[in-house]
This record gives sequence, structure tokens and C-alpha cells, in this order.
Amino acid sequence: MKRALITGITGQDGSYLTEYLLGLGYEVHGLMRQTGLEQIKGSTQFGAPEDLYERCVLHPISLDNFPGLYRLVSRWQFDECYHLAAASFVGETLADGYQTIQTNIAGTHYLLAALCEFQKSCRFYFAGTSEMFGRPRAAPQREDTPFMPRSAYGISKLAAFHLVRNYRESQGMFCCSGILYNHESPRRRPEFVTRKITLAAARIARGRQDKLELGNLDARRDWGWAPDYVEAMHAMLNHTSPDDYVVATGELHSVREICEIAFARAGLDWSKHVVVNPMFHRAEEPIPLQGDSTKIHRVTSWRQKTRFNEMITTMVDADLSRI
Ligand code: GDD
Repeated sequence: MKRALITGITGQDGSYLTEYLLGLGYEVHGLMRQTGLEQIKGSTQFGAPEDLYERCVLHPISLDNFPGLYRLVSRWQFDECYHLAAASFVGETLADGYQTIQTNIAGTHYLLAALCEFQKSCRFYFAGTSEMFGRPRAAPQREDTPFMPRSAYGISKLAAFHLVRNYRESQGMFCCSGILYNHESPRRRPEFVTRKITLAAARIARGRQDKLELGNLDARRDWGWAPDYVEAMHAMLNHTSPDDYVVATGELHSVREICEIAFARAGLDWSKHVVVNPMFHRAEEPIPLQGDSTKIHRVTSWRQKTRFNEMITTMVDADLSRI
């Protein structure tokens, strides 16, 4: 039986990856913060199965607890480590980004250093992001497109990405980074725009809310389905050699399109409820974040299965049934 360690196990991706690996017969271990059970209850409110974490071994160790990480990795042997934990919200100013930079870079470094010391053969996945391209010079972006991060989050992820690459090249470890574009699901936290919209559409349909305030309706992103993307992470670690891969749909859609689909699914006219609030506005780059996944398609059998419309309607249905 293979044993995997997941950091960020209670997040959207962590929960889907846990389900996927348990389904493949893995023993799954997860890192979580000391807040313990309360945090787990918080995460199941977004729709992970109630008993999911009872089927795992949980370790209450935060990423900045280096002695704790060190002890864990010296006691347990893992076949695969999926490093998903991060401060992950993009919409903050650089000036507020100290915590993001500290957590995302140092946490990755601690974990890699401990694995390198005690179990170099453990395969390591790092959750990179399209935000590392930030202000891209060309679209679609591929693995060899120059990085130009424009947020504390993107900068921290790019620094960690280079750490991961260095452990691969200088220590010979099996380290991979997935450069994942936005990926969504009913378990997405509501501060991200897809879930903000699907939840609001459901609440308005149920008479719990009247208006939805959004930023730029013309903002476009390459949105994929989170359960598909966790399978890509596993495919990378189970390939014959380590590498970095873009994981994206290659399709662009706008915030306005999400509103149209989501509100229609809830039986509503979006234009009667959506209002623009400049507080949520973020500057958009002229060249969009749009990924080219040719490499992972060529090298592994991974394919995206769920399309944009189906993703949004599934999210609305989940929110309608929860309210
Ligand atoms: N959150 C939010 N709220 N975004 C809005 C709103 C709003 O009211 N109105 C428009 N948007 C636009 C944002 O400006 C952005 O262009 C787009 O919707 C998506 O925003 P988010 O859902 O907040 O996601 P993100 O693209 O900033 O970041 C997500 O994807 C990255 C991968 O590219 C996060 O999951 C990151 O952690 C991840 O790395």
C-alpha cells in the first residue's frame, strides 16, 4: 500500500485529492493546523464527505513548525508528498503580503529540507499557479513562457517553484510542480469569484439575498474543475521522470458568463441582481492567463473531463441543495 502525505488536506484540492488517493488504496496522512477538529468541521461545511478525515492519519503540525515537520518526516516513510498548503488569495496589495511570502516560501523550504534529510526517494508535488505568469507577454502560456508575477502570492509561489526545481536538479529528488490555472468546485471558498456567484445565485433564488456585488465583469480566466486537476497531480508523480507541467483548459471565460450561466440555472436574470462595486475591482492584464496543457497531455494520460458550463451548473445545484 502506498503512503501519501498531503499538506493543506482540509482545503478544496486537499479534500478531493484525499478522496482520490483513498479510492486508489493509498494510506493518506495530512497536515493540519493545531486548531484541530474545529478546522475539519469548518471544511466539511463546504461539502467534503463527513467521514473523509476519519479515514486518514492527521498530524496537527503547521508549516512554520519546522521541528514538528522534521519529527514527522523522520518517523514516517512516505511514497508521495503533495504540498498544497499555502496562503492562496490573490486579491491583496503587496504591502500586506508579508504573511503570504513567509508561509509560502519558508514552508516549502522546510518540507523539502526535511524530506531531503530523511527520505530523498519520496516523490514531491508542489502546487504552482498561473499567478506565477502574472503579467504574461504571450497567451496561451506554456512551461517555457517567462514568469512575471504581479502579486505577493505569485512572487512567493514562484520563489517556492524555483526551490522545488533546485531540489530536483541539485539533490536528484523526484520533484514536480503543477502550474495550475484556476480550478473550482462546490468546495471552493466563497471569496473566490465562481463560488461567490453560485452561492449568491442560490441564496437569491431562495430569497435570502437580493444583490451580488462584483468587481470586473469582463475579467477572463481559464477555469477548470478541481476534481480533474487533483488527478493531474497524481499523474505527474507517477510518471517515469520528474518535471513541471501546465494544467489548464486552454479556454477563456468571463465573470459575466459565469453570472449568466449560474443565475439562469437558478431561474433568475443576472442583470437584475448583479451590481458592480469598485472595491472588488482588480486591474486586468491585456494578455490573459490562459494555459497550454499540451505537455501533460503528451506525457501522461491525464485529460480534463468536466467542461465549464457543467462545472458552473453543478456548483449552483450544490449551493441550491445546501440552502
Ligand atoms: N474574488 C473575486 N471577487 N474576484 C472577482 C470579483 C469579485 O467580486 N469580480 C471579478 N473578479 C475577478 C478577479 O479580478 C479575477 O480576474 C477573477 O475574477 C478570478 O478571481 P478569483 O476567483 O479571486 O481567483 P484568482 O484568479 O485571483 O486566483 C485563483 O486562481 C489562481 C490560479 O490562477 C486562486 O485559486 C489562486 O490561489 C490560484 O493560484
